[in-house]
Amino acid sequence: MSYGKIAAASLLAVGLLSSQAFAAGDPVKGKAVFARCAICHNVEKDGGNGVGPNLFGIAGRKSASVDGFNYSGKMKAANITWTDENLAKWVSGPAKMVPGNKMAFGGIAQKSQIADVVAYLDTLK
Ligand code: HEC
Repeated sequence: MSYGKIAAASLLAVGLLSSQAFAAGDPVKGKAVFARCAICHNVEKDGGNGVGPNLFGIAGRKSASVDGFNYSGKMKAANITWTDENLAKWVSGPAKMVPGNKMAFGGIAQKSQIADVVAYLDTLK
């Protein structure tokens, strides 16, 4: 197989894996994972902000769009749409995704926990 074909095949495999990971996410387990986030994030509609911005309705929203939250300059400039893929990337390593942002959280390593917490975030609407 040529290098090009191998690269295309592995890209395809990664794509399949990541979409399957989201499909497998369990929002009930994700709520338990979210305990690590809840110390900084409120998820109630009109519940206000904590150390971090309110996450009600986060799925599909533009980054840095919660009224009254004092986002960092890096976050304001990031211009991300919070798709499942981007939420997964964010929770696995926020400092890698947006260097210099002010969310003091190292990231979740375990793939299943990432999928679960993203599935939970999708229920906040
Ligand atoms: C120590 C506090 C803290 C913890 C723990 C934390 N966050 Fe955050 N989070 C923040 C702050 C502060 C920001 C804003 C970052 C900025 O403006 O640079 C943020 C931003 C975000 C954003 C972007 C929001 C937007 O409006 O664009 C998402 C999504 C998010 N956090 C999800 C999570 C999830 C999910 C977890 C748990 C896995 C988590 N956070 C854990 C403090 C925290």
